[in-house]
Amino acid sequence: MSKLNASIMSYKNRGKWGDYSYRGNCSGHVINDLLDTFKPNRFVEVFSGGGTGRDVARDKGYKGIHLDLNNGWDALSDEIPVASDFIFSHPPYWDIIKYKDMRNNQYDANDLSNKMNYEEFIQKLDKVNKKIYDALIVGGRHAFLIGDVRKSKKYYSIIKDMTWFGELEEHLIKEQFNTVSAKKSYGGSFIPISHEHLLIFKKTGIWNMPIKFTKNFDKDIRELDQITWKALIQGAIEELNGTAKLSELYATLQDSKKAQKNEHWKEKIRQIVRDSTVFLRVDVGTYQLQ
Ligand SMILES: C[S@@+](CC[C@H](N)C(=O)[O-])C[C@H]1O[C@@H](n2cnc3c(N)ncnc32)[C@H](O)[C@@H]1O
Repeated sequence: MSKLNASIMSYKNRGKWGDYSYRGNCSGHVINDLLDTFKPNRFVEVFSGGGTGRDVARDKGYKGIHLDLNNGWDALSDEIPVASDFIFSHPPYWDIIKYKDMRNNQYDANDLSNKMNYEEFIQKLDKVNKKIYDALIVGGRHAFLIGDVRKSKKYYSIIKDMTWFGELEEHLIKEQFNTVSAKKSYGGSFIPISHEHLLIFKKTGIWNMPIKFTKNFDKDIRELDQITWKALIQGAIEELNGTAKLSELYATLQDSKKAQKNEHWKEKIRQIVRDSTVFLRVDVGTYQLQ
C-alpha cells in the first residue's frame, strides 16, 4: 500500500507494469499510488497506451477498462462505455511522440498526436476532457497526467491552455528521469523540462459544472488606461535604443491613451523621469534606464 503523501512524485523506475518500449509510457507507480490513495470502485483509463494501467489494475484486483486507439477505441468519436468514479488519462504531449509509429504506421485522423497546430490540439484535448468529466459520477475524479512542451524555443503549458472541467482537487508535480531533452546539451539559458503535472479534478455536482479556461490576447500598452507612465517611458527608451531625449519621448508617447487623456502629459513625463529610480539622467534632458 503506497498512498500519495506529498505533492511531488518521484519514481526512479517505472516498475514492472506495462510495456517499457511503448514510447511516452508512464511509471506504473503513478497509477498504483493513485489507486491506493483514492480506492475507486470502478477504474477507467483513457489513453492506456502500452498497458501500464491495465497491468497495475490486474495486480490490484481491479476489473479496469483501458481505452486507446491501439485497442480500437477513439477518444474523439467513441463514448466512454461506463460511468466511473475514477478515470486516469495520459494523453499525447501534442505531436512530440507520434503514436502512429506504435500502431505499425497506421494513420488515424483522430490521433491526438498527429501533426497539427497547437490550438487544434488543445481543442481536441478539451473535447476528450469534457467527455471524461461527463462520464464521472458525482464525487468522482479525473486524474490527468501531462507534461509541458517546448518547440522552436517556445514554451507551451498544456495544463494552462486547456479547459479545466470540475474542481481542481490536487496538483502534483512528477519528476521525470532520463528525458531526451535532458541528455542533449543546449547553449544559452535553456533549461530542460524535467517535470510533468498530475492534476486531479473532482466532479462536485450533478448539474453544476465548474469550467476554467485561459484567454490569450496581446495588447499595445500605449492603448491602455491602466498602465503606468513608468512602463510607457521605459518602453519608449527601449524603442529608442536605450537613450532618449525628452523631445523623443514626447514624440513616441504623444498618441498613447494616457497622453491623450492628460493635457499636462509632457509635465508628467518630465516628473516621472526625474523622480523614478528607474531612469538615469545622462545629459541635459536625456535619459537612459538605470
Ligand atoms: C502518452 S501515451 C499513453 C501511455 C500510457 N500511459 C502507457 O503507460 O503506456 C498516449 C496514448 O494516446 C493514444 N491516443 C492518441 N489519440 C487517441 C485517440 N483519439 N483515442 C484514443 N487514444 C488515443 C495513443 O495511442 C497513445 O497510446
